[in-house]
Amino acid sequence: MNKQSDLSSIPKAELHAHIEGTATPDLVRRLARRNHLELPADMFTADGSYNWSGFHQFLQAYDRAAACIITKQDYYDVTRAYLRMCAEEGAIYVEFFTSPDHPAVHGIGFAEHLENISMAIDDACADSGLVARMIVSCVRHLGPEKAVAVAKTIAANPDRHVVGFGMGGDELQYSIEDFRPAYEIAAGAGLGCTVHAGEADGPNSVRDAISLLPVTRIGHGVRAIEDQALVQEIADRKIVLEICLNSNLRTGIYDQFSDHPFLQLRQAGCRVTLNSDDPPFFFSSIGKEYADAATHFGLDRAQLTEITRTAIDASFVEHETKIKLLARLNGEKAGATTQTG
Ligand code: ADE
Ligand code: ZN
Repeated sequence: MNKQSDLSSIPKAELHAHIEGTATPDLVRRLARRNHLELPADMFTADGSYNWSGFHQFLQAYDRAAACIITKQDYYDVTRAYLRMCAEEGAIYVEFFTSPDHPAVHGIGFAEHLENISMAIDDACADSGLVARMIVSCVRHLGPEKAVAVAKTIAANPDRHVVGFGMGGDELQYSIEDFRPAYEIAAGAGLGCTVHAGEADGPNSVRDAISLLPVTRIGHGVRAIEDQALVQEIADRKIVLEICLNSNLRTGIYDQFSDHPFLQLRQAGCRVTLNSDDPPFFFSSIGKEYADAATHFGLDRAQLTEITRTAIDASFVEHETKIKLLARLNGEKAGATTQTG
């Protein structure tokens, strides 16, 4: 067995991907045709990939792609395609963000939007055995009031596939404290909480997040490395970092793998996971993140499997399913090939 096929058989788990950011340029073009939308002339590069450079242009490119996902069928197709790719690469668990503020632009209600994603999750599970859940996400640059509205809606309309609450968007807008009311509503409704911090902004954003919000995980969090006391606190409090290697390189936080603090964070005792964030924007996938951790940071099969265990342990999935997933992982380790429903 060569090294690549060995890696592809490692059971993987993804905790950080934005469903709207998983649609490939081909799929977005197809959805635009179906929805009679004219795409901006500069949306794609000559070779057909998304056209952007730098973090803020990335957020705009992401919003432009998300604006093509409109109908129930669109949401189903995007989710199905993404989960199919994850299953093909060996994912056994996927937790992804979905942002009700994006379909709301087209007048699509919260329940309707979730229903179609849920159907795709059920079909993916029936096909591949993969388990998937959703984190409902607010968008930071849309402001704290919209965040509270998202939190109130999900608290009032629980969904069996929604297990968490999160926030993406422009980290440089507003302060973490402004979003405390939204997070308190979500946590009060029993949702697990995570927040993007320490990506576009520095270590203070991570410090604020872990001291002001009821979060057990941080999206990215990599810039915590600039403050050793903070790194120690993250390790001591067992906060899990949702690390997205290729995203961080492509948005320009780090120039190359050797500059990325993945290993230092891990060696300092922080619990780290591997994630694709927005796969086609960053030329990534859950399989590529694991392969890059092996190639650039020397992680072996056992260490990568341990990262999957950390991700499942830190996931917001209901306890009973978590136990089954961990048992499945232990079975795989022992060479068994059991499936979790
Ligand atoms: N939304 C989608 N991807 C994001 C990222 N990497 N950071 C912040 N917001 C996002
Ligand atoms: Zn993200």
